[in-house]
Amino acid sequence: MRIRTGLFVSLAVVAALSAAATAFGQAAEPWPQFDPDKVAGPAKETVLYGRKLFTETYSVIGPEVKDASMRYSGNNLSCQSCHLQAGTQKFAIPMVGVYSTFPVFIGRENEVRTIEERIEGCMERSMNGRVLPIGGKEMKALVTYIQFLSTGIPVNKVIEGRGSPNLPLLTRAADPKRGEAVYMDKCSFCHQENGQGQRKGAPGEAAGYVYPPLWGADSFNDGAGMHRLIASASFIRANMPFGTHYDKPELSVEDAWDVAAYINSQPRPHRDHLDADYPDRSRKPVDAPFPPYTDKFSPEQHQFGPFQPLLDAQKAAPQAAR
Ligand code: HEC
Ligand code: HEC
Repeated sequence: MRIRTGLFVSLAVVAALSAAATAFGQAAEPWPQFDPDKVAGPAKETVLYGRKLFTETYSVIGPEVKDASMRYSGNNLSCQSCHLQAGTQKFAIPMVGVYSTFPVFIGRENEVRTIEERIEGCMERSMNGRVLPIGGKEMKALVTYIQFLSTGIPVNKVIEGRGSPNLPLLTRAADPKRGEAVYMDKCSFCHQENGQGQRKGAPGEAAGYVYPPLWGADSFNDGAGMHRLIASASFIRANMPFGTHYDKPELSVEDAWDVAAYINSQPRPHRDHLDADYPDRSRKPVDAPFPPYTDKFSPEQHQFGPFQPLLDAQKAAPQAAR
């Protein structure tokens, strides 16, 4: 009896480990033409520094780096934690083709924003940190890397694979309780049951994560795009468990909504003054999970849906200018 149990356990562990190894081996195809190692000319060093800032953010501008004046991000994530494969994976919010669509009007600030200002948005929210000086070496390198990933793409062309795919809406509210079961089944193996992920090295070593945390003090704050349910559920369905290819999702549509609702119900850093976001309220995304709201729907419905009635009301509003 004892032996059987032991055998069962060790087989389960081996299966789980090899599933992870396969997942890593099968990371979805990046856009192959964008290989910074093949860049020629004087900008090469800057492109490579930009890629390093993007993929190892924690080691250059993270909260644990030795030089305190370089601590710009407030958590130990990297840009790549969400913009997978150095920003080159289709539908994993890639950077490919993004440079050539900026400057662009952004509703959150209700004005035309430059690519630098968009990067600052992720610095202050996704990285829970502070802005990088515009014109400084780090911002220049990030912009140069992101520009490199738009090589050959015409200005204002929106390419296929931008953002993450549209996810069918549910006719019910997303259910964090059901999402917890999905999380324990499909996500906790890497991100851990407590959602804190798995570090590379010890705290204080500025080495980042093998598996990033999904909530808690070292995660993105409540003003981040990933904290909005529609954005988060569609990213998760197209890309998680890690190694998922967007056209072969492993999660059902319902599981993606519910697991995203579970993650976004957990504690995380708070960003002040979120009420100042989207000063033109008619442009506020229906899933922005913070007040004020100018419609008749409850805060819970803005957080968990169902979103179709909210979208219909937004469309019907007289001031809708989109
Ligand atoms: C926690 C996840 C997360 C992290 C980490 C993150 N971002 Fe983002 N980023 C997002 C999301 C989500 C969006 C899309 C938001 C939206 O719907 O507008 C986005 C959008 C962007 C965009 C605009 C993309 C487009 O298609 O218009 C840029 C540029 C960007 N991020 C740069 C960065 C940089 C540089 C870093 C690191 C310093 C970073 N991000 C870190 C989640 C993240
Ligand atoms: C095989 C391991 C693995 C599994 C299983 C897995 N993830 Fe991830 N996940 C990762 C890795 C690795 C990254 C960051 C990618 C990078 O840094 O290159 C990530 C990134 C993320 C991110 C964006 C970064 C952040 O910190 O928020 C979210 C959200 C996420 N995973 C959610 C999920 C959900 C939900 C599940 C279950 C459905 C899941 N993951 C299953 C490995 C995994």
